[in-house]
Parts: sequence; C-alpha cells; structure tokens
Amino acid sequence: MNHPDPFPFLQRSRRLRGNSLLRQMVRETRLSKSALIAPLFVQEGVGIRQEIPSMEGQYRYSPDQLLYELETLSKTGIQQVLLFGIPNQKDACGSQAWSEQGVVQTALRLAKQEFPNLFYITDVCLCEYTSHGHCGILSGNTVDNDQTLPLLAKTALSHVQAGADMVAPSDMMDGRILAIRQALDQHGFSSSPILSYAVKYASAFYGPFREAADSAPAFGDRKSYQMDYHNRREGVKKAQQDLEQGADLLMVKPALSYLDVLYEVSSRFPVPTVAYSVSGEYSMIKAAAKLGWMDEVNAICETAVSIFRAGASALITYYAKELAQFIEEGRIG
Ligand code: PBG
Repeated sequence: MNHPDPFPFLQRSRRLRGNSLLRQMVRETRLSKSALIAPLFVQEGVGIRQEIPSMEGQYRYSPDQLLYELETLSKTGIQQVLLFGIPNQKDACGSQAWSEQGVVQTALRLAKQEFPNLFYITDVCLCEYTSHGHCGILSGNTVDNDQTLPLLAKTALSHVQAGADMVAPSDMMDGRILAIRQALDQHGFSSSPILSYAVKYASAFYGPFREAADSAPAFGDRKSYQMDYHNRREGVKKAQQDLEQGADLLMVKPALSYLDVLYEVSSRFPVPTVAYSVSGEYSMIKAAAKLGWMDEVNAICETAVSIFRAGASALITYYAKELAQFIEEGRIG
C-alpha cells in the first residue's frame, strides 16, 4: 500500500544507503590489491623470523626466511614490497648500506631469483646503518647534508644493481633526488624510477619502526631534517622541489595525521602520490584491538579507505595482507 509522502522534499540521501549492493555500486573510492605495498624488515643472518614486540604480527626476516613471506604475500595478491635492511655491523658513515654483500642487496638477489614477478622497492637511508642512528653522516653534532649525498647515491645504485625495481629515499637531505638520479643515469639505470619520501614529517608515529629497525637516534631527534608538522605549504614546496630534481612518484608520510597534505599534494601534482601508513598507525590499531577497545577489521578498512579517499594512488601499509583479504571478500573496495 502506497501512502502519499507527508514530507515531500525531493532529496533523500538515505535512498542510496538502504541496500548493500547499491551502497557498493555508488562508492566513490575503490581499492585494489595492485595499489598496496607491504613493508618488510630484512635482518642480516640465517633462519631468523623474529616478531617485533611493538608491532605484533610483523617480523624481522633473514633473507632466507623472507622468501616464505614473499610467497604468502604473492598468494594473497600483494605484488609490491618495500624492503628495509637491518645490518649486523654499524659504523659512523653507515657503510653497510651500500655494501654489495649488504643485507638488502643479498635479500634482493635471492628474492628476485625466487620471485621474479614481484616488484621490489627499497628504502634508501642511512639510519639503520649508522652507529649514531641519524639519517646521514655527522659533522660534530649536526647531520652533514652535502657529505651525505654521495653515500645515499651509492646506496641507491647498489640496490638497483642488486635488482631493486625502484628506490625510495627517506633520509630528507636536500638535493638527494638529484644526486640519486644522476648516479643511476650515469650507470645505465635511467629507466629505474625514484619514489621520493618528499613530504616526510618528524613524527612520533615512527616509534615502533625504530624499535623494529634498531634505528633510533643515539642523541637528539630528526627535526633538523624531517619536516615540522605545523606546515602544510612547506609540503607543497618539498614536493615541487623533488619533482624538479627528477622524482617520479611522491610520498606523503605518515598518512593519517596528514590527510590534508596528501589531498593537496595529490591534487596539485600530476604524478602518483603514495601514502605511507607508518608503524605507529599500525601499532595503535593493534593495541586498541588487543585491549578490546576497537574493532580491528573495521578500523583497518576505514583508515585505509580514508587514505585513498584523500587522494593516494598507492598505500604502503603493514596491513597489506589483511586489506588484500578484505578486498577479496568484498568488505571494502
Ligand atoms: C628511515 C625510515 C623511517 C621510516 C621509514 N624510513 C624511520 C625514521 O625516519 O625515523 C618510518 C616507517 C614507519 O614508522 O613505519 N629513515
């Protein structure tokens, strides 16, 4: 029986929300497994698969054990990984970062041989390799920008020579994109893309990562090279500079507290913008879920979708496997 509508206004937003198939049909944001990148920690050694206490469900793998995780990831449909190295030896200039026998280089050669169809991105930075934990070499107590550049360029080149498909410098030294681009071009790698951690803020949300990668600075903090979180326009400037130096993709990091920056950078620049949902964002959800204070699955979905809604072309996330499964189940996307 149809009654006349006693409130004859024309717009009823709820009409589009009443049916789950319709809700899915009219979604504005779609997720795809091909836009997910899984970060992985590779530790020098053999037979290591060690859970990271501050990041439950994430592990440090020696290169041989990494292969099992790559297999699991590719079965879930995740085909892009971002590798971080944890060396046994650290020194003042981080020389293991560019060693041919370094942990990332070794892992890359092995992984490329076993899983040649995955896409390997490497983090280029010195903080995991320096005894003082800073992202460059020191002059006194300050990080020396210009002296660090050739070391970053050597590191990036050694990754590409070992098989990296793309390098991602995260050190935040000025001029590093140009230095890396020139080094790659001079050695015949002009086709290798650079994903610049262009807009990277000094953030409390890297805390668990620094435990995972054993890379906390021994003194001071990273505020003289990573960005001040009060600034949005500076992020636009950084993105612009890195593009001018030859970056192919831009990154905004962290993700959740910087959705405004992500929106702005992705709207302004006609290049792919990658968001990095960092360790603290992962651990926050994990911890709250463990306490029974939040539903983990819903929190994973909502946060990931919010990052894509803000304009991300791709997302680096420790929840990549879970998201792939939720996409498969039709829960999101
Ligand atoms: C290395 C680097 C860091 C992260 C990515 N690359 C740590 C830092 O800058 O202190 C953080 C990633 C995360 O928290 O998940 N410079």
